[in-house]
Amino acid sequence: STVYLKDYRVPEYLVDSTRLHFELQPKATLVKSQLKIRRNPAAGEGLPPLVLDGVELELLSVSIDGKLVPASRYQELPQGLSIPVDAPEFELEIHNRINPEDNTSLEGLYLSNGMYCTQCEAEGFRKITYYPDRPDVMSRFTTTIVAPRQYPVLLSNGNETARGTTEDGRQFVTWEDPFAKPSYLFALVAGDLQQVEDSYTTASGREVKLQIFTEAKNIGKCDHAMRSLKKAMRWDEEVYGREYDLDIFMVVAVDHFNMGAMENKGLNIFNSACVLASPETATDSTFQRIESIVGHEYFHNWSGNRVTCRDWFQLSLKEGFTVFRDAEFSADMNSRAVKRIEDVSMLRTTQFAEDGGPMAHPVRPDSYMEISNFYTLTVYEKGAEVVRMIHTLLGAEGFRKGSDLYFERHDGCAVTCEDFIKAMEDANGVGLTQFRRWYSQAGTPVLDVTDAYDEATGNYALTVKQSCPPTPGQEQKLPFHIPLALGLLGAEGTDLPLDSAGNTQVVLQVTEQEQTFNFTGLQEKPLPSLLRDFSAPVKVRYGYTTEQLLFLMRNDSDAFNRWDASQRLAFMALEQLQSDYRQGKSLYLPEALVAAYRSVLQNRDLDPALIAEMLALPSEQTLAEQSEQIDAEAIIVARKFARGALAKALKDDLLVCYRGLHSDKPYSPDAAEIAARSLKNTCLTYLCVTEDTDALELAQQQFHRASNMTDSAAALGALVNFAEAADTEAALAQFYQRWRQDTQVVELWFGLQSTSARWGTLEKVRELMQHPAFEQKNPNKVRAVIGGFANRNFTQFHRADGSGFEFVAEQVIALDKLNPQIAARLVIPITRWKKYRGELGEKMQGALQAVMDSGKLSADLYEVVSKSLA
Ligand code: ARG
Ligand code: ZN
Repeated sequence: STVYLKDYRVPEYLVDSTRLHFELQPKATLVKSQLKIRRNPAAGEGLPPLVLDGVELELLSVSIDGKLVPASRYQELPQGLSIPVDAPEFELEIHNRINPEDNTSLEGLYLSNGMYCTQCEAEGFRKITYYPDRPDVMSRFTTTIVAPRQYPVLLSNGNETARGTTEDGRQFVTWEDPFAKPSYLFALVAGDLQQVEDSYTTASGREVKLQIFTEAKNIGKCDHAMRSLKKAMRWDEEVYGREYDLDIFMVVAVDHFNMGAMENKGLNIFNSACVLASPETATDSTFQRIESIVGHEYFHNWSGNRVTCRDWFQLSLKEGFTVFRDAEFSADMNSRAVKRIEDVSMLRTTQFAEDGGPMAHPVRPDSYMEISNFYTLTVYEKGAEVVRMIHTLLGAEGFRKGSDLYFERHDGCAVTCEDFIKAMEDANGVGLTQFRRWYSQAGTPVLDVTDAYDEATGNYALTVKQSCPPTPGQEQKLPFHIPLALGLLGAEGTDLPLDSAGNTQVVLQVTEQEQTFNFTGLQEKPLPSLLRDFSAPVKVRYGYTTEQLLFLMRNDSDAFNRWDASQRLAFMALEQLQSDYRQGKSLYLPEALVAAYRSVLQNRDLDPALIAEMLALPSEQTLAEQSEQIDAEAIIVARKFARGALAKALKDDLLVCYRGLHSDKPYSPDAAEIAARSLKNTCLTYLCVTEDTDALELAQQQFHRASNMTDSAAALGALVNFAEAADTEAALAQFYQRWRQDTQVVELWFGLQSTSARWGTLEKVRELMQHPAFEQKNPNKVRAVIGGFANRNFTQFHRADGSGFEFVAEQVIALDKLNPQIAARLVIPITRWKKYRGELGEKMQGALQAVMDSGKLSADLYEVVSKSLA
């Protein structure tokens, strides 16, 4: 059934304190909960029944104020419990049993490699015990965990207040969290874990104990996360004035996890893949991902925990804001321009596709069937862009005033996106009325920009028209308030001053359907550099010529737009190739493009990481997103042709560049070295595209000599995609032998194979699913093998016979029985059938229909499939 934002009501009852007692057993964990409950004065008169959420629980007893309530008095509901109430305040005690071992949904309390752990966001707590499982019910938790001796580490939120041994020889530990919190922030961990410890002194001089817990075999992989945590703590003090508030901060690594990580108060739980790293086993991008996720979860302590969400429609209140915070943290720790490019290219490919697909929804959705389906790129990444626009509109100082007011005003409360904007407005004395539409209207706005220069007056007029395509349930959109950052380049390639103060960049306030902005006193017609640093999550159309784009690539002072010009240029060429291919013409890559790439490659002044980004052709997925109607075959052929032609033409330059970047220094994941490796490995991959033996020999050498996983994986990736079958198999086997004990490396090894563009990958993927290291119940393995194929293997997934789609449908049906959240994500690649040309779209629709017809679907999967077939 569908839940609507407009139906929000305050909770009928509040829970002042929550006392939990767990007796852990794999198949029969006993949970006792004592709740101090009080009628919510804001909810109105009378004493309605107390309705608690509860799913898959075995109810043992209910008592009120110490007296057993007979079963005839309360009512067990399909998803909860209804208890009659006769006093405005009372103590409720419930006993129930749960089965962590058989919990494959990975929500609530479950077992992962023999370790007990929890995931309660968004609605997992109801799988632990009966409770008002909604974020606006905040309570103080005390938790006692009782477990046999093979689980020496027993953790929960807050501070440890007691420990001991029970009469029958089990251990117990009691934890008390002094901060009131919603149930979704509850956490429990029990296992045989090792830990690394460190400490951090806050700005005001309080000492905080930091601990990272893992299985013994991973204890050597915690250093990077610990360093990242300390950097994040410092950064939040310096940039937001936010200090940590408990005496202890714990992180636990778990192998079975649906998402990246979870910000439980004082006890963050991480997917192992997002916290464990060593130079030998993790790539540069993993190092960077860990830094950003550790930051993200830590930053939630303020943006999420101290100030939380009133209801789940407000999810972006904490997620959009926190992604913005972690992106700025990463930008400050690494190369700002490269971080921005990575984020924007992900947004453009995946979030824009979501905005254009059947599940399109606003940053603050109006309705949902299953909230887990709304942990999306729109809520997270577009939500972060919305916060970034506020930052752009108010400036860093104004934004800080706004965030200070927000944290002060709402500390300890469960609030809304509206409260966030209001704080920004009040602190700055500005109005953001129209800007609010970013929260309520779905879809990616398009800006059509034209210009005219009047030589006689020196006036330059820039006309901006905005539009936004319809999305499900929203035919018409009102104009957005769009901050459009721009600069104007003169013929010399330098930025022209735009005002008397000599500023060379302005942020235009685009608020109407059509608007003209005038710049006066210009000696020549300038070239506009539009949407600098991607100042809004929109598409900009302007009739750039090849020459103009080449000019921007060389001269734009905005690094992001230099890259963007390279993308536009490549996109134009690839469009042409697609159309030539469809018309049966012979394919040819314009000399200007080759020359542009060559000069980028030869440029010694640019950050090598930026060069690597500029050399990368837009991915097939990006090209698909930008197509009106997707012609998968033309996209594959065009991109493959362009890549091959570039590789051939640039061979010598690539080789020089590759050789020049070789380094014997010990590995370090700092920005400069990551940049060098990124360009070096981009060159290696291009060189191997030609399948020349000398290039493949380089890859072999790098593969055998690499002292870090970045170089090793890049070389293996090149071999898997371009070497002869026997060499590929030999390298894969050798790699597996070397790393078979390391879960994270095995996942990488799976991913390299499932994403190979070579014919035969689908059969290979089926084989990998039979591999002893594959585990259907482990989301990381599923994502590496099946997800890699469906999301990151455009060529093989789009096989003309539709077998790629059928395979995904088959896997989705099987997974739905085990883990609905994972099934509902994995199905997404086959939901956009309407965008495909001809038969391929029909085949995709057929696969989706097969999922629908396969029997009873979970609520998660049903929502995505039914909306996509509609
Ligand atoms: N709040 C977590 C984070 O973004 C994500 C939890 C997602 N859980 C889920 N069931 N979808 O850091
Ligand atoms: Zn988050």
